[in-house]
Parts: sequence; structure tokens; C-alpha cells
Amino acid sequence: MAAGSARYVRYILIAFFVLAVFYFVSDSSDAVTRLTPATGNNGADSKSATGAGDHKGHEAAQAKTSKPKTSDNVDPKQFPLAMSPNDPGFNDLAGIAEGPRMNATFVTLARNGDVWEIAKSIRQVEDRFNRRYNYDWVFLNDKPFDETFKKVTTSLVSGKTHYGLIPEEHWSFPPHIDQEKAKKVREDMAAKKIIYGDSISYRHMCRFESGFFFRQKLMLNYDYYWRVEPSIKLFCDIHYDPFRFMHENNKKYSFVLSLYEYIETIPTLWDSVKKFAKNHPEHIADGNSMGFLSDDGGDTYNKCHFWSNFEIGSLRWLRSKAYLDYFESLDQDGGFFYERWGDAPVHSIAAGLMLPKEQIHFFNDIAYFHVPFTHCPTGEKYKLDRKCHCEPKENFDWKSYSCTSRYYEINNLEKPEGWEAESH
Ligand SMILES: *[C@@H]1O[C@H](CO)[C@@H](O)[C@H](O)[C@H]1NC(C)=O
Repeated sequence: MAAGSARYVRYILIAFFVLAVFYFVSDSSDAVTRLTPATGNNGADSKSATGAGDHKGHEAAQAKTSKPKTSDNVDPKQFPLAMSPNDPGFNDLAGIAEGPRMNATFVTLARNGDVWEIAKSIRQVEDRFNRRYNYDWVFLNDKPFDETFKKVTTSLVSGKTHYGLIPEEHWSFPPHIDQEKAKKVREDMAAKKIIYGDSISYRHMCRFESGFFFRQKLMLNYDYYWRVEPSIKLFCDIHYDPFRFMHENNKKYSFVLSLYEYIETIPTLWDSVKKFAKNHPEHIADGNSMGFLSDDGGDTYNKCHFWSNFEIGSLRWLRSKAYLDYFESLDQDGGFFYERWGDAPVHSIAAGLMLPKEQIHFFNDIAYFHVPFTHCPTGEKYKLDRKCHCEPKENFDWKSYSCTSRYYEINNLEKPEGWEAESH
């Protein structure tokens, strides 16, 4: 009797176990099928590339190589950009984004010691955007990158990573610079406590970003770049490909923050620009953004510039004769060393004078922080739709030290509702 009931108990336990296993298996296969539509997202492209059936959606999504990489093989019209919540696909942020890819890369100038700060930036860029697009990332340094830097960054970037060593002649004093004069300037600026005023490497950096990053061997492989610096933050989901936006709308330069430059660092920059404009009238665009840069039709510079630690731009434009003539002219005047010209005003003035104003874009939907300023788009619904986590009062756009209002004015754009409340 005791043996018999023990057997029943055993049967019941076994039956229960079998049922439990069955339930578990069917439930998890359910989870797999639920994943499929999101990740596999069944575009004609992924099917034809992999022949993947429904149940292979997951693998198809992970096989980056099965996705179209450039615009050559897909019709962009079949994959409209999801710019706002009513556009198809706006809420589809799972898996690899379908559609064309641009000939584009992220680019970062960094030192080995920046590895953990750039790691934070990469993580934000990947989480908010690139995990779905897998664009490449180029890292540039005036010293060779070490193994830790390469390992950590490669593990975080979903696209391919490339590491470039900057040639000496792009990171040194050009021969025409009078070393004594340059030294004297650094001493004077140090005495006046001008930020980075006494730094040589900061000057090499500004000159490099102004005239050489886009000509590095690795960068010659691309048409568009997105500059990322260590320790930045992105606060909103990016629902479409900004590179594609640039390309399809013929934009050449873009920004998220703008402000006034510290005049002590650029006292003669505008004189140098005027000299260039006089020598090269053919490079000055009709319908440019002079109104952003000057309040008196070009006589004086109002110091407004786009903050260049964030940029998405056209490398072809930077490599154009117009831009190279401009850089060469400024470089000959020596202000990178005899003053402390920043790449932000140098790029901004170039974009402002040599591009029609429609070719400069304000990426309102890319919410961004670089110490000490934040671009946090105005409007509660706008931010909720994009899952933003920035604090509205931190938004710099409409504060008196920002030039973004001026950009809106010269482009006849209407400021978003609620801007006044964020203006002080
Ligand atoms: C990408 O751009 C570079 C520079 O313009 C060009 O040499 C290269 O052929 C392009 N690649 C593709 C796939 O279009």
C-alpha cells in the first residue's frame, strides 16, 4: 500500500514535471516568435540577402553583413525617414533599421587616457542611435592607440572601428610660424588666465580639427562624418538616420548648440576672413548666413558660432577647393598660434559664408550635452515622444548667451511653443 501510493506520487510528480517543461518550452518559443516581427522586420532586402524564414528573424537581424550598407542597392523611397511620431516606423526601434546606409562614419579625436570617457559617449550614441544602424567609427590620435583603447572601443561600437595615427605635419607648427612670437602670446594669455591660453597641444588640436581631420587617410573613405567627443550625453531616442537626412536634403553642416566666442582668443580672425573673402569672392555663397555671423553686413563679427564638439557634416564640402582655400588662407595668417583660434568659429564662419543658408541644419531632435551646455528640445510632448531624459530648465537654446535664436531669425523659423519660459 505504501509502495503503491509512493508510485502514484511519483507519477504525479513526473506528470507535473513534464507539463512544466512543456509549458516552459512553449512559452519561450512564444517569446521567440514575439521577437521575430520586431527584429526580423521582414524587408524584401533581408529576405533576399539571407533567405531567412520567420523563425530565423533573430539571426537575420544580427547578421550585419546581410543588411544593405549603402544606398546603391536599395530604393530610399521604400524606407521613408521617420521624422515625427505620425510617420510610419517611428515607434519601431527594435532590431536593425532597414533601408539604405550612407557612406558615413563617426569620428573621434582622443588620447589613450580618454578611453573611459569616450566609452561613455559611445554607449550613449549606440543606445540612442547606432545599435540600429551600425555605422563605422574612426578614432584619431597623435600617438598610437594602445590595446586597452582599441579593445574597449571596438567592443562598444556596433559598426567597424578604425584607428589612425595623425601625421606629424598635421600636428605641429608649420614652418612659417615664428616660434618666439608664438611663445610670447602663450605667456601673455597665461597671465590673462585665458582658457587653454598657454597650451600648445590645444592649438594643434584646433588647427587639426579646422584643416586636417577630414583629410586623414581613413577619413578619405567616407562622405559624411559625425563628430563625437569624450563625455558627451545624448538625451533622446533618434528615430531616423541623420546621415540620410543630411544627404537627402542636401545639407552640408549641422549643429545642436551655438554661442558667442571668447573674443580674446580670436581678435583678428574676422580680419583674416575678410581678407580671404576679398581674395576669393568666388567662394562666397549667395544667400549665405552672414546675418548669423555679423550684425552690420559683414563689417564686424558678432562672435556667434556653432559649437563644433558636435557636428554632422559633409566631408566632400570640407575637402572642396573653397574650404581648403579658406583654411590655407587662415593658416598662413598664423592665428592658430599667434592667437588661439578655435575650430568652432573657423568651421562656423566657413559654413556661414560659403554655404547657402539652407545647407546648415539645426538638429533639434538630437538632444545633447557637452560640459557645460545642454541642448534639450523645447516642448513636453516633443520630449515624451522621443523618450528624452534631459531637464527642460537646462536647455541653453533660448538663453541670452546662445545664438540659436539668431539662426531661427535669419532662416524665418518659428520658435517652438514655450521657448520664452526657457529663456532665463
Ligand atoms: C565613399 O566615399 C569615398 C570618398 O568620397 C569614396 O572614395 C568611396 O568610393 C565611397 N564609397 C562608396 C561605397 O560609395
